[in-house]
Amino acid sequence: MALHWLVHVFLWCLSLATISSSSSASSSSMKCQRRCGKIKIPFPFGMGDPNCFRNKWFNVTCDESVTPPKALLGHNRLVKQDLEVLDISLEGHLKTKKKIIHDCRSKSYNDTDVIGTPISFYESPYSFSNTRNKFTAVGCNTLAYMTGFTRTSSQIFRVGCISNCFGAASVIINGSYSCTGIACCQTPIPPGIVGFQVDISRVSAWWNSCSYAYLVDQDYDLKFTVLNLSITITSFLDRNKRVPVVLDWVASQNETCEEATDYACLSENSICYNSTNGPGYSCKCSPGYQGNPYIHGGCMDIDECKNKTSHNCNQMCINMPGSHHCKCRKGYHGDGWNNGTRCTADAKEFPVLKVILGTGLSFLFLLIASTWIYWLWRKRRSMKLKEKFFQQNGGLVLQQKINTRRSDTFKIFTIEELERATNNYAASTIVGQGGFEDQVPILVYEFISNGTLYHHIHEAGHLPSISLENRLRIATEIAEALAYLHFAASMPIFHRDIKSANILLDNNFTVKVADFGVSRLVPVDHTQITTLVQGTWGYLDPECFQTGKLTDRSDVYSFGVVLLELLTGEKAVCLNRSYEDRNLAMYFVREMKENRLFQMLEERVRSEASVEQLMAIAQLSLRCLKLNGEKRPIMKEVVVDLQGLRGFQKHHSVHDQEIEKLLCETSQGCKEDAGGQYSVSGNFDISLTLNR
Ligand SMILES: *[C@@H]1O[C@H](CO)[C@@H](O)[C@H](O)[C@H]1NC(C)=O
Ligand SMILES: *[C@@H]1O[C@H](CO)[C@@H](O)[C@H](O)[C@H]1NC(C)=O
Ligand SMILES: *[C@@H]1O[C@H](CO)[C@@H](O)[C@H](O)[C@H]1NC(C)=O
Ligand SMILES: *[C@@H]1O[C@H](CO)[C@@H](O)[C@H](O)[C@H]1NC(C)=O
Ligand SMILES: *[C@@H]1O[C@H](CO)[C@@H](O)[C@H](O)[C@H]1NC(C)=O
Ligand SMILES: *[C@@H]1O[C@H](CO)[C@@H](O)[C@H](O)[C@H]1NC(C)=O
Ligand SMILES: *[C@@H]1O[C@H](CO)[C@@H](O)[C@H](O)[C@H]1NC(C)=O
Ligand SMILES: *[C@@H]1O[C@H](CO)[C@@H](O)[C@H](O)[C@H]1NC(C)=O
Repeated sequence: MALHWLVHVFLWCLSLATISSSSSASSSSMKCQRRCGKIKIPFPFGMGDPNCFRNKWFNVTCDESVTPPKALLGHNRLVKQDLEVLDISLEGHLKTKKKIIHDCRSKSYNDTDVIGTPISFYESPYSFSNTRNKFTAVGCNTLAYMTGFTRTSSQIFRVGCISNCFGAASVIINGSYSCTGIACCQTPIPPGIVGFQVDISRVSAWWNSCSYAYLVDQDYDLKFTVLNLSITITSFLDRNKRVPVVLDWVASQNETCEEATDYACLSENSICYNSTNGPGYSCKCSPGYQGNPYIHGGCMDIDECKNKTSHNCNQMCINMPGSHHCKCRKGYHGDGWNNGTRCTADAKEFPVLKVILGTGLSFLFLLIASTWIYWLWRKRRSMKLKEKFFQQNGGLVLQQKINTRRSDTFKIFTIEELERATNNYAASTIVGQGGFEDQVPILVYEFISNGTLYHHIHEAGHLPSISLENRLRIATEIAEALAYLHFAASMPIFHRDIKSANILLDNNFTVKVADFGVSRLVPVDHTQITTLVQGTWGYLDPECFQTGKLTDRSDVYSFGVVLLELLTGEKAVCLNRSYEDRNLAMYFVREMKENRLFQMLEERVRSEASVEQLMAIAQLSLRCLKLNGEKRPIMKEVVVDLQGLRGFQKHHSVHDQEIEKLLCETSQGCKEDAGGQYSVSGNFDISLTLNR
């Protein structure tokens, strides 16, 4: 039982040990301490675990028992003495500190350390830096020299300098001097020195004075005071009178790059180079890379473009692995390098095409714009004109009336509607042309299909002649229309151009009086107005023609002529008639006086009318045609007469022959011919017999 327990414990311990060892191995390689106090310890240097440094020569110990912690190199066994590390750089430098040699002999005083502790890096990868150190002596009339040896031991160098106090000797100086020649001298050392020895020799004894000499970091400001020829150094690193000294280190001190067995330049983009300070090789990152060349992935690309001072581009910088290149912006040419052709703005050639194109386009734009504006102006002007005409010609009043009466007697058409209706005023749709002065508004009449009265009376030879009844009705309707114009309209209107050509007839011979082109509105309290004589010859009131005074009776005269046309079928003016008969009115009056009414009458009229009717119509006509306007009836009377005449006809529908007979009976010299026809001849006074 106890044995069993023991075995268990043993196995447990074993497994624990395995785990811990393996974990420590892996973690130590991963996590090496890279700092000792403020001092960075980069690989190949390292501390603790052997995996953390390249070999024993790079074994750094951190003494954390003191503050600040001290980094120690070599630790006795290797370089025979502690080397306190002040700074390590991957460029191959390591700064340490060493005690300065002094000689302070005097008559009573015998303190000297002329030889110092000799040190040698003979087997190690270290050597004294010939680029960073100077052999330095401080003292008055002191000859100091250094005897150095290289690894091969075949070469021995001796370098030294003399420091004097001329100038400083005669004065008492209490101030700081750096090594500029007075009481101090410096000299460089040859490369490859791995060990040395210092000797101070006084040219003349200056008692009470010390002399100092050692290899010192050349950047170190060794300050000292000269006081009454006694020299005191005031800038030691510590109480032990130590000064900084720079060592160079190599990856391997007894191999070249080619011979390297444990090749140290592990990083990509790293290069190996032979040391310039003795044998051995070192590593560095390739140009354009920075970092640690001794570890994998240590050298990393420098983004030169991020740092304005590290690239040399004039305008644009493009980073590449290990390098960069330059470019010029658009509109510039050149290689972009400040040390090359830099970037220059492209020469701006005169943009002919652009100018032409621009000018053309703007001209076109101007043209279009001005055309558009002109068109707008025209449209606006025509709108205004339309408006003006519309108002001038009573459009507003008309519109108001239409609105208030809700009448569909009138309708206002737009130009568009008219254009559509007339097929844009096509020539084929023109039925006739009249004489209006104004363009707008256009007076739209209903289309009267059957032509004018003139056409029916004088030109429609092939058409059946109009019946008397229709003739009377036409006359009545004309008279009614005129009477309306003269008396019923809100303001009397004188038509001024009543003629058969202005009387339109529709299919039922209903009358429309047309062509108000020369009509005049007559102010209410005026019965006559003086105006330019207008009208149509043959219809024109001779009194108005003579006096220029326009009254409603002028229309009555014209109406009388139309009535004559209806009765006789003769034209108002006919050049075929004899000279004195050319004017129908005069012709009729003369014929009437000579009792030749019947010869003048149109055939159908003669056959359909009663004698009474005929005489009454003839009388009415005569009255209308009186030369003295005053004696003419007014249009209202005419209407009444005509209406009476029409009634006449209905009640006295007499046969042609009866008329003839009646006429015969009332006249002398009427005789029946063989065919039972009566012919009227001789004089008879119509006014007497037939005047109602
Ligand atoms: C490193 O140096 C320390 C201190 O001198 C020593 O204890 C240790 O063994 C050294 N390590 C190696 C691997 O030489
Ligand atoms: C000082 O010491 C050196 C050697 O140790 C000796 O030769 C010299 O005589 C001494 N001088 C005096 C003043 O004691
Ligand atoms: C030299 O000057 C420093 C200050 O500048 C002073 O402390 C020191 O006592 C002076 N030494 C002598 C010997 O006068
Ligand atoms: C300087 O040295 C001389 C002779 O050695 C001495 O007489 C003088 O007192 C010294 N002066 C001072 C300030 O120490
Ligand atoms: C280089 O020196 C080391 C000791 O520092 C030694 O072990 C090694 O054998 C030497 N290599 C050559 C090629 O001499
Ligand atoms: C290093 O030195 C050796 C011998 O002097 C030489 O053959 C070799 O080319 C050098 N290597 C480099 C990288 O300079
Ligand atoms: C930029 O580059 C210059 C020279 O290469 C260097 O001295 C400087 O430190 C760099 N600055 C930065 C911020 O990296
Ligand atoms: C300008 O300098 C860069 C490096 O800064 C170099 O690569 C390039 O060749 C140089 N160009 C000229 C024209 O000198």
